[in-house]
Amino acid sequence: MLDFTYYAPTEVVFGREAESHVARLVRKYGGRKILVHYGGGSAKRSGLLDKVCDQLAAEGIEFLLLGGVVPNPRLSLVHEGIELCRREGIDLILAIGGGSAIDSSKAIAYGVPYEGDVWDFFEGKAKVARALPVGCVVTNPASGSEMSDSCVISNEETRDKRGVSTPFGRCKFAVSNPERTFTLPAWQTAAGVTDIMMHTMERYFSNDMDMTLTEALAEALLRTLKDAAPKALADPCDYQARTQIMWGGSLAHNGLTECGMTRDWACHKMEHELSAMFDVTHGAGLSALWPTWARYVYRSNPERFVRFAVNVLGVQFDGSAESTALAGIDAMEAFYRSIGMPVTITGLLGRAITDDEAAEMARRCSHDGTITVGRLRVLDRNDIFEIYKLAR
Ligand code: NZQ
Ligand code: ZN
Repeated sequence: MLDFTYYAPTEVVFGREAESHVARLVRKYGGRKILVHYGGGSAKRSGLLDKVCDQLAAEGIEFLLLGGVVPNPRLSLVHEGIELCRREGIDLILAIGGGSAIDSSKAIAYGVPYEGDVWDFFEGKAKVARALPVGCVVTNPASGSEMSDSCVISNEETRDKRGVSTPFGRCKFAVSNPERTFTLPAWQTAAGVTDIMMHTMERYFSNDMDMTLTEALAEALLRTLKDAAPKALADPCDYQARTQIMWGGSLAHNGLTECGMTRDWACHKMEHELSAMFDVTHGAGLSALWPTWARYVYRSNPERFVRFAVNVLGVQFDGSAESTALAGIDAMEAFYRSIGMPVTITGLLGRAITDDEAAEMARRCSHDGTITVGRLRVLDRNDIFEIYKLAR
């Protein structure tokens, strides 16, 4: 097993009364004049935004509002936020929303103290060395951004979607009330569950097979999410199910399920190109690719796929690693279908992609053929091209 460092410094306040702690947490982490950054309106409609603002005002914390974050958050709004924060002397950013609002907040936080263009970080031209503190009120458990070190931004001019991982990306605090997720549409609920499970699976599908505790944690998380998803879809106000999904989302991407193991991330890398080209929902892009990826790579480590089939999906070992592994992939695909997620690119986009589109995504994903993706099986530009074509 690999040596590792586990660093998950975010203070998480979880439960029905969680958001009553927002002003206290803002103060604790140095906020005197803050930016409240949110999305297209769900936080306004639910009353959450007003509730938070009333609390900040009552505690004498100055704040400015910047809404309008869209899914696959845009660089242009990040630039706007950076200018606003500099002009107004903002000292903390409070995100209200899902991964998009949180990631947009993180990018603004990196950009404020940096003299160059914040996009430099996403292109690997510079390393984040300072950032404003960020806290969040989570309304969509999916990305795990509330505890992760990552931030993913889309550059609408170049059509690139890029991520940066840095210790400065860890939120100081995350406020998570499962009741706030009752209003999520079924599509977002299912896409969120898919993303959470994929954050675990991208780590679980590893060639390191000797980290028993990490593997067991991952399997428990996956079984729990698989059980909770249909319950939350059947009854959006099922607090118990929403709780499993919300806490699962935070644990799936804070590093816990990777301790001692190499990570794969091939599906995420390929999905980011789908999101960049077609502006799709991230979780749905992942389910559209995973079954094809799995059938393409499982022979590199059938034993791992057998464990997944048996321990996560309840498939009986039938004496053959090959057919049990494939039965597990079929069962996972059936699960995605059962929660309304696409399992092909046509299911995602409503049309098949062309060879040219597949080639362009493979070119971008492999940085013009200069890098590979994946660890369980290393995939080059040609493999990526094949997977996009097979997934259509
Ligand atoms: O914009 P509003 O009006 O708030 O609506 C949002 C949005 O349309 C809505 N929503 C959120 N909470 C709601 C709600 N609607 C009703 N009730 C609520 N309680 O849901 C829609 C999707 O929100 P968004 O934040 O875009 O979704 P998600 O949390 O899935 O975040 C997706 C982004 O995170 C990135 C993805 O690539 C994508 O850009 N990721 C970030 C990661 C990270 N930072 O660690 C890792 C992930 O792998 C992922 O790449
Ligand atoms: Zn993801």
